[in-house]
Amino acid sequence: MTTQLTELDAKAAETGANATRVFQEKARGTVQTSTDRVAAVASAALAALHGVIRDYDVTYAEYDALKSWLIQVGADGEWPLFLDVFVEHVVEETVNANRQGSKGTIEGPFYVPNAPRAEGETTLPMRDDEPGTPLTFSGQVRSVDGTALAGALVELWHADALGFYSQFAPGLPEWNLRGAVVADKEGRFSFHTVQPAPYQIPHDGATGKLIAAAGWHAWRPAHLHLKVSAPGYQLVTTQLYFEGGQYNDSDIASAVKPELMIAPADGSVTYDFVLAPE
Ligand code: DHB
Ligand code: FE
Repeated sequence: MTTQLTELDAKAAETGANATRVFQEKARGTVQTSTDRVAAVASAALAALHGVIRDYDVTYAEYDALKSWLIQVGADGEWPLFLDVFVEHVVEETVNANRQGSKGTIEGPFYVPNAPRAEGETTLPMRDDEPGTPLTFSGQVRSVDGTALAGALVELWHADALGFYSQFAPGLPEWNLRGAVVADKEGRFSFHTVQPAPYQIPHDGATGKLIAAAGWHAWRPAHLHLKVSAPGYQLVTTQLYFEGGQYNDSDIASAVKPELMIAPADGSVTYDFVLAPE
């Protein structure tokens, strides 16, 4: 099967290379892991794969196809894209299973720290002719005990009305549709932006090859990405989706949750965040 690319399609190799570079620049800290844990987790992961090979009578031709595909994922720089689409949701669910407060979901590959920051209210950086329906997104940040969290930081990033992220797809201003607000004395914040479109993960690279070969689709529903943090509280990384939005029920990244729905009316919507203490 061939995939027809238009100039509106994000190019896998370019997006992938950017996602790989940004991931490697991002310091989540080094992990100190004991030999025992590495051995246990690596053995279990390999055993799971061995089980699949036995259960499905995998052939040498299929084994070679897998090898060749894995090599191509790396060559296309697509590991951040592939892993965030197909694996991150289970890590997020596991890590945050017992956290109180607002629901989180996956970060995805397109977060960039240190976006332009304002106090209380801002308009996200955007082009003069930025396409899309205007959206005002506001809310309040509180602690699980109900205290308003003055000075909480709310970071917002999202795709444009064609589904492209600045700093990853070509031709967009550096901080297009990325920004942050420091919540006011009452923990309130407000962003003026435009509604994002559904996002099609780049499909001309190795990830797209798998998706096409399996007969899946490559779409994520339209979503806003957020990080909400305050000193002494656990950071929440989440996304918000639009009620009734296309692909909400078939997100390729399995990251939609019922708690994460918004339904703007007359171009405005509110959503409050609740943070749990560290
Ligand atoms: C991918 C893109 C996203 O916008 C997202 O939220 C998650 C994953 C991706 O292309 O891998
Ligand atoms: Fe996204």
